[in-house]
Amino acid sequence: MEQIANLAKSYCGKKDALIQVLHMSQTIYGYLPMEVQQIVADALDIPVSEVSGVVSFYSFFSTQPRGEHTIRVCLGTACYVRGGKKIVERLQELLGVNVGDTTADRKFTFEVARCIGACGLAPAMSIDDVVYKQVDPDKLEQILARYYQEGVSAS
Ligand code: FES
Repeated sequence: MEQIANLAKSYCGKKDALIQVLHMSQTIYGYLPMEVQQIVADALDIPVSEVSGVVSFYSFFSTQPRGEHTIRVCLGTACYVRGGKKIVERLQELLGVNVGDTTADRKFTFEVARCIGACGLAPAMSIDDVVYKQVDPDKLEQILARYYQEGVSAS
């Protein structure tokens, strides 16, 4: 919190600094709860409502703790008709969380997407920058296990 306050103060009075400060704050703290938003608002000398408005507008800002890895299951048309929903259901079972949530061990944040550019090889999902194509729900456990093995490439 102190690091964020000092950082934000160094940007006080600078035009258009808010998004940059919020990015850096999220990198430091992991997410942007109201306490962090208040610190940023105080340090930049702007209303906290302005900070909250920006945080809620941009999807890359999160007010909830995020996992180390982000899983996005595609539910665009091609993936949906080829079984995207089964992937979502299996991941809900394996992770023990619903879409939009983060696992208790903070390993994964689980989200859905509209299209991740792999429609020809649907159903698809991504974990961070890695896209998995023609995903078989029975292989999901194996895929997730890779992310628990330290030092093993996720791809
Ligand atoms: S619809 Fe799923 S990748 Fe395009």
